[in-house]
Amino acid sequence: MTKIIIDTDPGIDDAMAIFYAAAAEDIELLGLTAIFGNVTVDTATRNALRLVEAVGLDIPVARGAEKPLEMPHIKPSAHVHGDEGFGDIPAATPKGNAIKETAAEFLVRMAREHKGELVLCPIGPLTNIALAIQADPEFASNVDRIVLMGGSYKEGGNITPYAEANVYHDPHAAEVVFASGAKVEMVGLDVTHQILCTKEDFAAMAEAAPKLGGMLQDMSHFYLKFYETVGKFDGCSLHDPAAVIACTHPHLFTSEEVGITVVTQGEEIGETRAAADARSETSVLMGVESEVVKSLFMQRISGLS
Ligand code: BDR
Ligand code: CA
Repeated sequence: MTKIIIDTDPGIDDAMAIFYAAAAEDIELLGLTAIFGNVTVDTATRNALRLVEAVGLDIPVARGAEKPLEMPHIKPSAHVHGDEGFGDIPAATPKGNAIKETAAEFLVRMAREHKGELVLCPIGPLTNIALAIQADPEFASNVDRIVLMGGSYKEGGNITPYAEANVYHDPHAAEVVFASGAKVEMVGLDVTHQILCTKEDFAAMAEAAPKLGGMLQDMSHFYLKFYETVGKFDGCSLHDPAAVIACTHPHLFTSEEVGITVVTQGEEIGETRAAADARSETSVLMGVESEVVKSLFMQRISGLS
């Protein structure tokens, strides 16, 4: 079992990733940490609590940072995920509460308690992870690795022509993570744009698993509509599930070792690019057996009751 904490800004594909992790018998999900991005941090925390309750998990949820390290806060991505984060599904109040520790405090403690074993899977802006790195000089070496959804090497951006959304929301935090010396795997647009789910795929998951597959299908309508406006994809990208799957199925991906730096100012802000003077090497995922990843995702969501 791989011990994983997901740092998340739920978010429609975040919900898919969390349901996948809950369904996966090879994953021990130790908790969720919430971050602004697709929605505000308060909505992200509430949505994370909603997801763990819906899927029947009893795990801690920690509230994270409400703004980037240095940049002004960018408005949430309501046109992609809806005002409340789950497309057309209305807001609802969960029964549970976030724990008292902040996301960064929780991450630092868990990395110590599970030294060398914890796989961190950030699927939102990287502020919480950067704060944990800054709070504890041992954090980067305490985690086994950081498998993050974010960035783009050769694919171009999705929020600007240069930048992928998670990195763009806090480029300084992303730079802290890439330069931390932790083992970092970048699951960026180079691979996530190759893994697409269609309306028919969501219908099949809803039929097999009416409650939770059905919930994802309800969310997917909004997300698929956004992807139609982008125009170049036959379906919507499984960005965040791809990162969770990469944690346990690295053989389904190919990668290149690249020194990555993040552009932190100017027109190209948020771009993740190769630089000879980068402080550490990142495994940049470039190839994927996309049909196998999609089938695994669909099979495990379909098994949820
Ligand atoms: C990433 O940005 C968010 O909109 C998604 O949830 C995903 O984490 C894709 O660029
Ligand atoms: Ca996300």
